[in-house]
Amino acid sequence: MNSPTELASPIAVDIYRARRERVLAALRAQGGGIAILPIAQEVMRNRDTDYSFRHDSYFYYLTGFNEPEATLVLNASAKDGEPASILFCREKNAERETWEGFRFGPDAAREAFGFDAAFPISALDEEVPRMIADKPALYYALGTSAELDAKVRGWLATVRAQSRSGVRAPAKAEHLLPILDEMRLVKDAHEIAIMRRAASISAEAHRCAMRATRSGMREYEIEAELLYTFRRHGAQAPAYRSIVAAGANACVLHYPPGNAIARDGDLILIDAACELDGYASDITRTFPANGRFTPAQRELYDIVLAAQAAAVEATRPGVSFDAPHQAALKVLSQGLLDTGILDKTKFGGLDDVLAQRAYAPFYMHRTGHWIGMDVHDAGEYREAEGPPDEQGARPWRMLLTGMALTVEPGLYVRAAESVPEGYWNIGIRIEDDAIVTEAGCELLTREVPVAADEIEALMRESND
Ligand code: GLY
Ligand code: MN
Ligand code: MN
Repeated sequence: MNSPTELASPIAVDIYRARRERVLAALRAQGGGIAILPIAQEVMRNRDTDYSFRHDSYFYYLTGFNEPEATLVLNASAKDGEPASILFCREKNAERETWEGFRFGPDAAREAFGFDAAFPISALDEEVPRMIADKPALYYALGTSAELDAKVRGWLATVRAQSRSGVRAPAKAEHLLPILDEMRLVKDAHEIAIMRRAASISAEAHRCAMRATRSGMREYEIEAELLYTFRRHGAQAPAYRSIVAAGANACVLHYPPGNAIARDGDLILIDAACELDGYASDITRTFPANGRFTPAQRELYDIVLAAQAAAVEATRPGVSFDAPHQAALKVLSQGLLDTGILDKTKFGGLDDVLAQRAYAPFYMHRTGHWIGMDVHDAGEYREAEGPPDEQGARPWRMLLTGMALTVEPGLYVRAAESVPEGYWNIGIRIEDDAIVTEAGCELLTREVPVAADEIEALMRESND
């Protein structure tokens, strides 16, 4: 059976306590109230078999606790000596622990994770109405789950039923997550340390996959190398569904797990990375099944690589979240003109291609997204206010030191009459994870080669 130490989060208790204090301070500044945050539901896969349990990232961010059936309550109206940070969790249960493993139980959880008080989860419906009575506001993840909405309605109804004895229900319900989104957007040193380790494992997995690949292998055989490497190094799971796409499949952006054969002359696009201790990584590499890029593949590959370099260069504090995307678009669009994939005679030049979004059939996604506990991490992409842009939208968020985002340009060229045949069915994406630093940004995922020559050299080593 696992011991409590093995199950405890690698982040120090003080870090979680300090995060809860920040939330409490923010709620106090808004007049106080109670915040309620459950961990996530266990989901049935079929009959009595569950999907692997995965905590809710917001809950884990504030607690480090990841047993199912838990809820955090923060009391920002607590008087001196009253508990402000309260955990509800499963009780110890010798029989269930024989089947499912160790449970902390409220007392040990309070001690190990630094809560002011802890109760059995079975007491939630009795305790919460007591806690929210006469408080000015109730904060929770408003409208994100029908189940939670229903529970909140029930708790409010219980308080309102006591109105004749002079008890009042909170006068307002507020969305809790925006406060947490802002906190999660800027990563602290502990988070960056875990993300670094996750990135390192994922990079090793990509190197293993490149080394293992031979023409004639099936996509799932290559995927197996990735999954094996994630687990071998202690990552709990893939951070998202792995993509291993050979040949034309690489032009399908969310290609599902497949069994196609990677043929001699095909490129293989792998977008796969692990989650470690609650943090995601996200890497894409594209490489030739036989270890040698064809001239056409190499030409497009180098355009995507140059687009990524331009986007990385544009990733620094004080610039707009959109700056890396615009930088990548310029390089990709120029490449589409230079290769004749976009017919030069139809456009007045690069500016015209950009203004008409003529690149869109070949590059239809953005160049990055926030990354952290979730692969597409929490946080707004636009400022709360500011002058609208040409499309009437609020301005893009300004990058700050400690933010984490991916840099992932690509080109996806399907067979089409208007496109020179040599480029048909080539899909390329190159993706790394960046932390914004004072000097610009640091790429966490570069332990796997990215230059075409380096990829060929790595594959040659394993073919020798
Ligand atoms: N792998 C998901 C993404 O790149 O956004
Ligand atoms: Mn990504
Ligand atoms: Mn990805």
